[in-house]
Amino acid sequence: MRALMSLVAGLWLAAAAAPVAAQTPPDNDTCLMCHLDPAATRANGTSVAVAPDHFGESVHGIFSCVDCHEDLAATEEWPHAESLARVSCQTCHDESVSNFEKSVHFALRERATGRAGATCVDCHGTHDIKPSSDPSSRTYVLNLPQTCGTCHSHQQIPGPGGEVFEHFQDSVHGRGLSRSGLTVSANCSSCHGAHDVRAPEDPESRVHRSQIAGTCATCHQGIDQVYEESVHGRTVAGGNLGAAVCSDCHTSHEILRSETEAWRLDAVRECGTCHVDKIGTYRDTYHGKVTALGFTRIATCADCHGSHDILPASNPQSMISSTRLVSTCQSCHPGANENFVKYDPHADKHDPERSPALYWSARFMQLLLAGVFLFFGAHTLLWFPRSLAERRAHRRAGAASGDRTPPAEE
Ligand code: HEC
Ligand code: HEC
Ligand code: HEC
Ligand code: HEC
Ligand code: HEC
Ligand code: HEC
Ligand code: HEC
Ligand code: HEC
Ligand code: HEC
Ligand code: HEC
Ligand code: HEC
Repeated sequence: MRALMSLVAGLWLAAAAAPVAAQTPPDNDTCLMCHLDPAATRANGTSVAVAPDHFGESVHGIFSCVDCHEDLAATEEWPHAESLARVSCQTCHDESVSNFEKSVHFALRERATGRAGATCVDCHGTHDIKPSSDPSSRTYVLNLPQTCGTCHSHQQIPGPGGEVFEHFQDSVHGRGLSRSGLTVSANCSSCHGAHDVRAPEDPESRVHRSQIAGTCATCHQGIDQVYEESVHGRTVAGGNLGAAVCSDCHTSHEILRSETEAWRLDAVRECGTCHVDKIGTYRDTYHGKVTALGFTRIATCADCHGSHDILPASNPQSMISSTRLVSTCQSCHPGANENFVKYDPHADKHDPERSPALYWSARFMQLLLAGVFLFFGAHTLLWFPRSLAERRAHRRAGAASGDRTPPAEE
């Protein structure tokens, strides 16, 4: 195949090119003489066919082949060398390339981890590149998750963390794109960027803990305004990244609608991963026991504390401040008054100062329990010798009367 192609084209080219100045770069028709053939392959069998229609319709259709395949611009020998230089997009897209060089994908290539990070071609294609605004482009908002998903899916990266694409497709954002066709929903690049995708641990990453709220705020601005004023927002802004950011409570790729029962229960557990002592005392209360059984009609952490507006009790704006507590309880207990709210939702039976009544009644119950066991234990112990003596006496009486029948079968 290759031999025949070279022979025909070689002869033609020699005839056509002879009178022309050697400097003229080969035009597209020249390249397509061989590359138009759908059966054109390399020696190893991989295709080198180029579909001129696709190329013509692409954003680069106006260019000549050698604008990108620069090493053939001055070729006079046909067929050309078997192995050519990789195309550099940098000649024309300097900015995209320099942004890309900051990315984790580029770093991976440099580090030679054995796993190739994405290159220009993986996200954009080669001869069929379209602007991102074109619905048939790989980087069109509705197609992008699929494009990133060719690598970030369970199939490609097995094990934990590999199922990003699958999780995302089931999330409120993924469904917004794939089901509702909502182009304003979040896609991978809304949160990660496109060319300068960085690892979450990188302080300059859009998904570094210090940046996450700002990233979500590109769309959820109203919520971020409230969050920034909350104890969590302020703590993070103050440099303590241990306080809750959006993705702690909502996750990043599995975000569900806030009404979803499963998420509301998860959110309670999530508050509890940081506020370990508070979830312990909450679980001891009626509210906590009922949510532990899987019901959310009852008070969750957020029902009493708020969600994006959480503040310490000492702040008068807080839902649990002395000024607002009655109305907080009233949202579910319409009859609640100052007396009702004396009930402590975090009463701690181990803390005599905070919950003396609970502490002492718990102590009393423990004593009572121990007392009961002690009493009946002693009772059984004392009763034992007596019961043995009685059995012996009974057996002796049976033997004396000459009765052969064993007492058990009477
Ligand atoms: C005479 C036929 C012929 C012409 C003309 C031709 N090619 Fe090729 N080209 C081939 C063949 C055959 C291969 C497969 C090489 C191999 O065996 O690996 C190939 C391979 C390639 C490759 C892949 C190289 C690699 O490293 O894998 C590129 C890119 C390419 N050609 C671009 C061009 C361009 C651009 C032109 C026009 C300037 C052109 N070719 C003109 C026959 C031709
Ligand atoms: C916008 C730049 C660009 C233009 C213009 C361009 N190519 Fe390519 N071409 C690429 C890239 C990128 C690759 C993938 C390999 C690489 O990265 O070097 C490629 C690969 C190829 C290959 C190898 C087979 C394959 O598909 O991977 C052939 C053959 C080829 N090009 C021929 C052509 C021909 C013929 C033309 C003109 C009709 C052309 N190219 C125009 C960018 C371009
Ligand atoms: C990880 C996927 C990915 C990689 C790798 C990638 N791009 Fe992009 N590129 C995108 C996405 C997504 C967009 C659309 C961005 C948008 O709409 O904001 C884009 C947009 C573009 C644009 C349009 C202008 C712009 O910046 O919005 C150009 C040009 C471009 N990319 C070139 C390149 C080049 C050159 C490379 C290689 C150095 C490259 N891209 C690597 C995903 C990628
Ligand atoms: C010879 C210069 C040249 C080279 C080399 C080149 N491009 Fe382009 N590219 C252009 C021009 C010109 C446009 C059209 C810009 C426009 O319409 O605003 C374009 C447009 C694009 C777009 C669409 C931008 C948009 O508006 O969304 C993408 C994506 C793109 N190029 C990617 C690439 C990639 C990837 C490579 C390397 C494989 C590459 N280009 C190589 C000149 C080039
Ligand atoms: C060609 C395959 C490929 C494509 C396409 C691709 N990636 Fe990647 N990406 C990788 C590989 C491989 C890694 C390194 C994974 C690792 O170290 O576990 C990586 C790393 C990452 C990381 C950092 C992960 C970490 O734990 O540090 C993020 C974030 C990321 N990619 C996002 C994206 C986004 C967003 C897109 C689409 C715009 C995308 N990737 C497209 C292959 C790809
Ligand atoms: C709503 C914002 C958002 C969207 C949309 C999003 N991500 Fe993420 N992503 C994050 C955040 C925040 C982190 C870091 C925190 C974490 O690990 O959960 C992250 C982490 C990652 C990581 C590295 C850690 C891990 O979980 O493996 C990869 C890879 C990744 N994202 C890829 C993607 C891809 C691919 C898409 C699109 C299918 C996507 N992301 C869509 C916010 C988002
Ligand atoms: C990622 C960990 C984390 C998560 C998740 C979290 N918080 Fe916090 N929370 C903190 C940190 C850190 C502070 C600041 C503590 C400080 O400054 O003393 C805080 C402060 C508070 C305060 C004020 C307490 C005080 O002493 O100032 C309340 C109330 C609160 N959180 C409730 C919640 C609720 C309710 C949830 C779930 C909806 C939640 N938190 C989720 C880490 C977290
Ligand atoms: C401490 C946990 C927590 C943090 C941090 C948090 N949220 Fe929420 N978010 C919630 C809870 C709980 C709800 C449910 C509120 C309700 O039903 O009243 C919610 C609801 C939502 C909703 C749906 C609207 C609604 O009120 O039902 C969106 C959108 C949202 N959050 C986005 C964000 C964004 C963006 C951030 C970061 C700026 C963020 N959240 C930070 C706990 C949190
Ligand atoms: C590109 C814009 C965009 C970004 C960035 C974004 N979101 Fe969203 N988000 C949306 C849109 C649009 C919806 C509504 C989807 C629907 O209703 O189908 C939504 C829905 C949600 C919901 C569900 C609201 C409800 O009805 O209960 C939550 C929660 C949420 N986003 C949290 C986040 C968090 C957390 C981040 C950052 C990690 C984030 N979003 C980043 C656009 C975005
Ligand atoms: C029935 C309402 C209610 C529920 C449900 C509830 N709390 Fe509280 N929480 C309160 C009240 C009232 C206080 C103030 C008590 C006090 O004076 O310490 C408080 C105090 C706190 C404090 C200390 C605030 C401060 O400023 O010192 C934290 C942290 C806290 N709760 C977290 C949680 C977490 C996490 C959950 C869920 C696991 C939860 N709460 C469930 C009502 C509730
Ligand atoms: C989201 C709704 C909601 C909120 C807010 C709420 N509760 Fe409840 N609470 C319930 C439900 C439902 C029950 C079950 C009993 C019932 O139907 O009255 C309950 C039960 C109780 C009980 C009875 C427990 C028992 O042992 O019998 C007390 C006491 C109580 N709540 C106190 C409070 C206090 C104090 C507040 C405010 C700090 C509060 N609740 C906030 C929904 C709520």
